[in-house]
Amino acid sequence: MSGSEPTSPARSNIPRHVAVIMDGNGRWARKRSLPRHAGHRSGVKSVREVVENSARYGVEYLTLFAFSSENWRRPEEEVGMLMSLFLEALRREVADLHKNNVRLRFIGERECLDSKLNEKISNAEALTADNTGLRLQVAVAYGGRWDIVEAARSVASKVVSGEISPESIDEATFAAELQLGGAPDPDLLIRTGGEQRISNFLLWNLAYAELWFTDVLWPDFGQAEFEAALAYYSERQRRYGHTGEQLEAVKC
Ligand code: FPP
Repeated sequence: MSGSEPTSPARSNIPRHVAVIMDGNGRWARKRSLPRHAGHRSGVKSVREVVENSARYGVEYLTLFAFSSENWRRPEEEVGMLMSLFLEALRREVADLHKNNVRLRFIGERECLDSKLNEKISNAEALTADNTGLRLQVAVAYGGRWDIVEAARSVASKVVSGEISPESIDEATFAAELQLGGAPDPDLLIRTGGEQRISNFLLWNLAYAELWFTDVLWPDFGQAEFEAALAYYSERQRRYGHTGEQLEAVKC
């Protein structure tokens, strides 16, 4: 990892957890009369950069939406190419991530992934499990509704086995069963590529996130755009249901 020292925004109001919907690879390629896979390949470079920038600014958790449950509907060739790209990125990047103290975790429906990719994922998670730096969480074959249903299933089986009672279920016990269980909720969601929607990403966890959308296509997303998102976040007042006046009073 390399790059210049941060200049702005101030380090005091950095989001603990940033989530990113990386959109626009296909359009980036089309604008250049290139095949879609060229856009995805170029997107890997932006992944590297956002990881470096997150670590540099002191973001603790970074969660990237790499492949949704719905993306299986894409042409077989593109799906195969994306899976190969994930495998290749793991082969190439894991040693460097480990050296930089990054802890990797994958979320999503692993049973849908090919065994070679699953093996690489498990090895990468095991290798980096004790790292104490940036927590990098990659969503592959992930859907927010699937995540909630799985968590409900898990809670239900604990009730059936008598491990917990229905009365003891609250938001915290439920959230612990979600794929991101144990991680704080994202503070900031970044979406590139011009669309302004959540697209079935982290539906539960994004409840209070600040949302930052940009028309910039994912392969063009670099340090300047990351800083713009952090600057936007640093200006937000997060009220969690309180009034602005209440929050001002707490400051005094
Ligand atoms: C959305 O752009 C992007 C994806 C479905 C794939 C994201 C994958 C990468 C950035 C590659 C590598 C990732 C990792 C974690 C190594 P799109 O194809 O929907 O673009 P479009 O809306 O312009 O068609």
